[in-house]
Amino acid sequence: MKFLELMKKKGLVAAHRGARSIAPENTLSALKKSIGKCDFIEIDVQLSKDRTVIVMHDNTLQRTTNIAEIDSFRDKKPYRVCDFMFEELCMLDYGSWFYKYKNHKEPLLTLKRALEFIKENSLFINIEIKDMSNCFEDRIVIETIAKEIEEAGVQERVLISSFRHEYLIIVKEKLPNVPSAALVEGRDPDNLLEYLKSLKVDAYHIDNALVDKTKVKMLRETGFFVGVYTVNNPQLAKELFEIGVNYIFSDCLNKKLKVI
Ligand code: G3P
Repeated sequence: MKFLELMKKKGLVAAHRGARSIAPENTLSALKKSIGKCDFIEIDVQLSKDRTVIVMHDNTLQRTTNIAEIDSFRDKKPYRVCDFMFEELCMLDYGSWFYKYKNHKEPLLTLKRALEFIKENSLFINIEIKDMSNCFEDRIVIETIAKEIEEAGVQERVLISSFRHEYLIIVKEKLPNVPSAALVEGRDPDNLLEYLKSLKVDAYHIDNALVDKTKVKMLRETGFFVGVYTVNNPQLAKELFEIGVNYIFSDCLNKKLKVI
């Protein structure tokens, strides 16, 4: 099955940043914990200074690593990911910050390893590309990520999304067979349908505050898939699926969020 076929199924649940309620987000442990509890996994990616694609949500390292405890990195505040070489990023612990993993060291997860894992376990993954426009040219970011997806041979298992819509146009050029989604929060773009068509995306990913029944219906009838983040309440998930939302992003994966 291809990702686009998966998206046509009803009541899909994505593991937001891996199973982030039970393991440190965006780590291999989080991906492992997601198995059997979701329909696909969502991760965030960005580039190190020397352009290795790593899995990490925040643009800085403080929240989800132990960097603040390492004296030799003190002069690198505010610890922007793109100011660190891959070798330096590998020196950090990505697990102990998480309350359930206090004494558990967790290595850095690269996109390459995440894609191997997806392939080994026949899973599906949504790769959210973080906005790195302060550090790299758009084309460099997308070419680097596209190359890794091609090398892993997982084009059919991937959905790409981003809040930086300039990236999505280059994604469609570089990976024409990989579905893509425009991520939005706060406010819909003007002339929404025309806008999404101009980006050549397959889906629209919105925060729950932006959900509107008429809009979801219009998007679905026009052929766009709709995903909503972040939904941890089964009743809310049920209501979203009833109005036609295709999938939700959820942290709440102690057991799969059963809603339909
Ligand atoms: O991709 C859906 C959701 O993850 C977007 O929000 O802040 O987790 O990147 P955020």
